[in-house]
Amino acid sequence: MEKFVINGKTRLEGEVIINGAKNAAVAILPATLLVNGICTIENLPNISDINIYCDILRTLGVKITKTAPNTVVVDTRDVNYIDAPLDMTSKFRASYYLIGALLGRCKRAVVGMPGGCKLGARPIDQHAKAFECLGAKVDIGQGKIVATTDGLVGNSIYLDIVSVGATINAILASVLAEGTTTIENVAKEPHIVDVANFLNTMGADIHGAGTDIIKINGVKELHGGTYSIVPDQIEAGTFMLAAVATRGDITIKNCITKHLDVLSAKIEEMGAHVEEISGDTLRVWCDKKPKCVNIKTLPYPGFPTDLQSQMGIVLATADGTSIVTESIWESRFQYTAELNKMGAKINAQGNVAFFDGVPELYGRPVSASDLRAGAALIIAGIAANGVTEVSNIEYIDRGYENIEDKFKALGADIKRVTE
Ligand code: EPZ
Repeated sequence: MEKFVINGKTRLEGEVIINGAKNAAVAILPATLLVNGICTIENLPNISDINIYCDILRTLGVKITKTAPNTVVVDTRDVNYIDAPLDMTSKFRASYYLIGALLGRCKRAVVGMPGGCKLGARPIDQHAKAFECLGAKVDIGQGKIVATTDGLVGNSIYLDIVSVGATINAILASVLAEGTTTIENVAKEPHIVDVANFLNTMGADIHGAGTDIIKINGVKELHGGTYSIVPDQIEAGTFMLAAVATRGDITIKNCITKHLDVLSAKIEEMGAHVEEISGDTLRVWCDKKPKCVNIKTLPYPGFPTDLQSQMGIVLATADGTSIVTESIWESRFQYTAELNKMGAKINAQGNVAFFDGVPELYGRPVSASDLRAGAALIIAGIAANGVTEVSNIEYIDRGYENIEDKFKALGADIKRVTE
């Protein structure tokens, strides 16, 4: 097992280049199964979830070659479909996209129940509802999902809950279906738009991604092509909040500033500064104790739940009491107990947490409970006075490429060591 050893307290300064979006990449890779051809995927983040996905696709007969650090060529012409290896698909959450893609391509999918960060129940009933609307039979049990169909037929789908995964899976299953599908009450995250853009580049006929209603006209086949993954909104937001938490000055390059509007507004509400240098570059700096603010996580374009823990680090030493309401996941405040070990004063009750700002945090051994909490605890260690050790960092490697090198380049004293 590895851990990060961080020697705080450091003011982060400099530039960081953002990678491609994990939550787009983990959907676009399985989406290549719908293509009878060769896809070149660029700006692919080099993270463990992507490496696992490439291994899973190879077991299905997909040929994947890495032609550059962040580029793969995916040849899906000989998908000799076998069941996705259950032990691999249970390693992370996004394996459920294999169902929509294999159902669309092979009319059958057998996938292990998805794993992923422990944020609460994380049911997949809305995914099943979408597949059944399109004419599939879905059985969930014995640790796997089996979906079969004689042929998917376009239909109207109304999702009961705004769900990123169910929205994307419904799109994947509709692309090659017979006829037109409309999906309502959809999620609108940037990664959903990116999946739709990828599929349209390969010949799909999808309209309205990023709005409340998505319409898909089924097509016979998708052809190969080249696509570059959208910059990671959450990685960019993570570094924006690192600048505020450490009273630093960071220029974030290769991001889409529009995707960060809600965070930029909150950072300015706290008295820190955000300057748009260009459409893909933001400068964030903070020269005094931030003011307290209230946060409620919501589906896009609301405040992202995946930035809630990173914002929590800032609120822990803000001036006054902040209230955070986590409306997406039942259990996403585990990191506050770790922060309290570092001297924070946070009272988390159910899906609401009260942050009473303290003068500063102190270095302590802490443990990551999920991907974003792990990134948040790195920021806490850089901002804190003394040495912090962050364990369970395999969570962090799932979603951030070379995170310690990026923080080192900004001035942090951080080392990856084997426990
Ligand atoms: C995606 O998870 C992201 N993961 C999560 O990011 C992110 O937190 C989440 O969307 C919300 O933005 C990936 O994209 C791989 P949901 P997903 O379906 O699709 C309920 C990270 O850190 N729900 O939008 O699993 C669910 O319980 C990760 O990168 C159902 O009830 O999230 C939750 O309360 C962590 N039934 C809400 O909807 C369903 O069938 C939103 O979940 C599906 C979801």
